[in-house]
Amino acid sequence: MRSFLLATVAMAIALPAQASAADKTMASAESRAAATVKAMQPDEKTVLTHGVMPMAIGPNPQPAPADAIPGAGYVPGIERLGVPALKETDASLGVAYVMGIRKDGATALPSGVAMAATWNPDLLREGGAMIGSEARAKGFNVMLAGGVNLMRDPRNGRTFEYLSEDPLLSGDLVGAAIAGIQSNHIISTIKHFALNGQETGRKIVDSVISPEAAHESDLLAFQIGIEKGNPLSVMCAYNVVNGHHACDNDWLLNKVLKDEWGYKGFVMSDWGAVPSLDTAMNGLDQQSGAQLDPAVFFDKPLAEAAAKDPKWAARLDDMNKRVLTAIYAAGIDKNPATPGGKIDFDADAKVAQKVAEQAIVLLRNEGNALPLAKTAKRIALIGGYASVGVLSGGGSSQVEGEGGPAVTVSLGAEGPFAGFMSQAYQRSSPMKAIKAMAPGAEVTWRRGDYIADAVNEAKKADVAIVFATKWATEGEDLPDLSLPDGQDALIAAVAAANPHTIVVLETGNPVSMPWLDKTAAVMEAWFPGARGGEAIASVLFGEVNPSGHLPITFPQSVDQLPRKAIDGYAELEPSFGGDPAVSADMKVTADYNIEGSDVGYRWFARKGEKALFPFGYGLSYTTFASSGLKTNGKTASFTVSNTGQRQGATVAQLYLVSRGGETKQRLVGFSRVDLAPGASQKVSVTIDPRLLADWKDGKWSIPAGSYAFALGSDAEHLGAAVTVRMPARNWKD
Ligand code: BGC
Repeated sequence: MRSFLLATVAMAIALPAQASAADKTMASAESRAAATVKAMQPDEKTVLTHGVMPMAIGPNPQPAPADAIPGAGYVPGIERLGVPALKETDASLGVAYVMGIRKDGATALPSGVAMAATWNPDLLREGGAMIGSEARAKGFNVMLAGGVNLMRDPRNGRTFEYLSEDPLLSGDLVGAAIAGIQSNHIISTIKHFALNGQETGRKIVDSVISPEAAHESDLLAFQIGIEKGNPLSVMCAYNVVNGHHACDNDWLLNKVLKDEWGYKGFVMSDWGAVPSLDTAMNGLDQQSGAQLDPAVFFDKPLAEAAAKDPKWAARLDDMNKRVLTAIYAAGIDKNPATPGGKIDFDADAKVAQKVAEQAIVLLRNEGNALPLAKTAKRIALIGGYASVGVLSGGGSSQVEGEGGPAVTVSLGAEGPFAGFMSQAYQRSSPMKAIKAMAPGAEVTWRRGDYIADAVNEAKKADVAIVFATKWATEGEDLPDLSLPDGQDALIAAVAAANPHTIVVLETGNPVSMPWLDKTAAVMEAWFPGARGGEAIASVLFGEVNPSGHLPITFPQSVDQLPRKAIDGYAELEPSFGGDPAVSADMKVTADYNIEGSDVGYRWFARKGEKALFPFGYGLSYTTFASSGLKTNGKTASFTVSNTGQRQGATVAQLYLVSRGGETKQRLVGFSRVDLAPGASQKVSVTIDPRLLADWKDGKWSIPAGSYAFALGSDAEHLGAAVTVRMPARNWKD
């Protein structure tokens, strides 16, 4: 054992001269961790390996430990060795509300997909730093933030929490968010590793995919995120991957994450995702929320296995070393987070608003219907509780400000997690913000529950603004792309009554728009967070020029997707806040080999399908042009110009469009550029060779041949292609 430890320490210290600051931090944390493991008594070795959900919940409810804070998780520390307890909160949008158990209020960033619509890593870093500082001020030292599963299906209920359908965009953005969170001396996770593509049957669905396709898509998003953000923990997913639970998956956890990628942090399970003790040998380091599992495997059973078998003893030491490495690398022992820290909620809300403003995607603007004139006389607002708030997504990631939601619509669920099953509107009133923008206007609001009433109101107004909502939550998927509760008919009727009808979408998923041609303008505001109402008003009135671009494809119909329905949706009962009752003999398979690594727009390009609104799409109140593309396949440069009359930002997008003469579309570079009217800027991007490559026989492989690249205002509107010949190349990461 001794020689094993010494070898590990020596390896950790022997770093190449060009090692980054992050590598150095990790190496010194690893050395310290190895020393602490050496000093541990046998009974101390199964302290850091399991945690609880610190609330009396689950099949065997226990009182929360005395020093725990209401939140998702708690792992006790080891006082004798100066190891702090881990106090864990969800998640990527801010400090979670935990079904209303927390009353103290936190700042909600817009949903993940909204953040991704900014295509702005610097802003995600700022958002991460903000929510991390609130977590720290409330005494948490672990944030379960960093959801990066690709959108393989637009009906996935957690699409709002994740970022995009593209590995480069998702990886870059999640890395930035994680770096921001961890700048507060706290640990962030990246999750849910991996291929957690649907909520239906989330604990039994088997995501079947070849290692090649997985590496070129979902795994690449994680890999880039880990490289950019250095998350100190990884959360494995609920689902099964190629026949083995993601938290019990030697291929995913040992081979890919720890061997191929050299990951040094620890793998924590999702809550209630651990089927057995064997998961430890398959790469799981920590059992989270253990009362939700069939047994606390990583306590006594693990200690007993380690006492009997040196292989298990070595594994247990490695588990401890990994958790300690994360603790030391984050510095949470030397910079303890204590509850009662000061939070500047006004400053934090400004960050949330900036994200929401850059996230709003203008989808349609006929005859420059927007921006609205501040001199409008009568503005009719319809639906979406726009008088008081903006919609948020449901589940563990939900964040609410002080005082809780402005409106809570119960969905009639029961059971311990029923609190998650309600539609909650954050306290940020679009109506108030609109009134502030147009103080001379008469601004009215109607619920939108009766079409005749809404039409009557719309007829009297210069402008009608329909706030259309589509709620989504962790735990269940959506059956289709429609707007629920008759909103499609409502919008069609209002648009027929008033030609100046604007639709503001508050959704976490793509929606179909049968009424699109009848409207004057449409904007996707997503679930826009703590200052969503203000952000919507700023864009409506042109205080802010819209610059968001879709990070996901909006299909015309589900017939264009690899799967006509979510696998298992018809067979399984909805979850009503928990997980659906599934019997052992139920099998659900999601065959991701259908699309392979061609997720989202890549699939549309392969099939020659046209989207309702393509990936990368977004209008502005000004116009842009990109020109002069030069590339050798490794780097590229081009010029972006603002050709309109207003200052504004756009997202320059560079795509691989074909390889060896065959259609193969991949985003290979992007840059958000902010320009004064008439101004131009030269942009350079470095092309990650993995985006051009195939994963083959355990290596990346670029075949010799021609590679065509094009600039696009989105994935479908592409400029002239520039073709380069590239030599063959094979390499390991
Ligand atoms: C979710 C995770 C979350 C955990 C703790 C699970 O249900 O899948 O994303 O971090 O709960 O709340």
